[in-house]
Amino acid sequence: MSTTGQSRAKTPEDIRNAKGGAPLVSLTAYTTPMAQMMDDHVDFVLVGDSVGMVLHGLESTLGVTMEMMILHGQAVARGLKTAMMVVDMPFGSYEESKEQAFRNAARILRETGAPAVKLEGGVDMAETIRFLTARGIPVMAHIGLTPQSIHTLGGYKVQGRGAAAGKLMADARAVAEAGAFAVVLEKVPQGLADAVTAQLKIPTIGIGASAGCDGQILVVDDMLGLFTAFKPKFVKRYGTLGKDGEAAIAAYAADVRARQFPGPEHVFSDVERSA
Ligand code: KIV
Repeated sequence: MSTTGQSRAKTPEDIRNAKGGAPLVSLTAYTTPMAQMMDDHVDFVLVGDSVGMVLHGLESTLGVTMEMMILHGQAVARGLKTAMMVVDMPFGSYEESKEQAFRNAARILRETGAPAVKLEGGVDMAETIRFLTARGIPVMAHIGLTPQSIHTLGGYKVQGRGAAAGKLMADARAVAEAGAFAVVLEKVPQGLADAVTAQLKIPTIGIGASAGCDGQILVVDDMLGLFTAFKPKFVKRYGTLGKDGEAAIAAYAADVRARQFPGPEHVFSDVERSA
């Protein structure tokens, strides 16, 4: 993190000011090489609590801890030069009180170097967002389908259809008024996502929402085809890395069993050669 004004990394204010301009591009990342791969191509990188499901094999994001977020946040920070980094606050680290939220958000910023955190919730979290932003912690909000509330939402369903649209709009207004610099809209019907985008003065970042949002985010393992346990409708696969990786591993296993690997070019001669 630079304190000399030399950093080329984007800031939460850059993201806020992108409202209504060219679409913001974002992906999740959890490791240094993945962060390096996307740094030149995205505006911000989210160290999402989806890490629990895609890297650690958990069934939901509820088992993700502060330690996991900080460890992965530190790894991602080492891979970024220009893209901004946002780190998710895990379940149980901010809901109890605004003071608890501040303590844990401050720890994330201090230990990872991230300039911002993301937390899930609308009207119910507005006071917490106001408390954090007033104390130097930029917050990205996340409304619509909030996976940490999976048990009260009753599953991974589209949020805000029909009579529920008013609540979603109220959530969006509340987080914007509380000072969030951007808001993720997850699994929200297209027309409602467009209406929220038109209403708010902060960027909306869609995932399963609308191409009319101010930006888009996907889980990187989903779009690369690395995570294949299931594919939500809103995911477009841009690669088949899972399949390609398995084929490569199978080829390696066959080579080893046939004593085709290592080949002469991979081993060392008993006498030292000049070249
Ligand atoms: O954890 C995550 O990956 C997220 C995105 C789906 C927005 O919150």
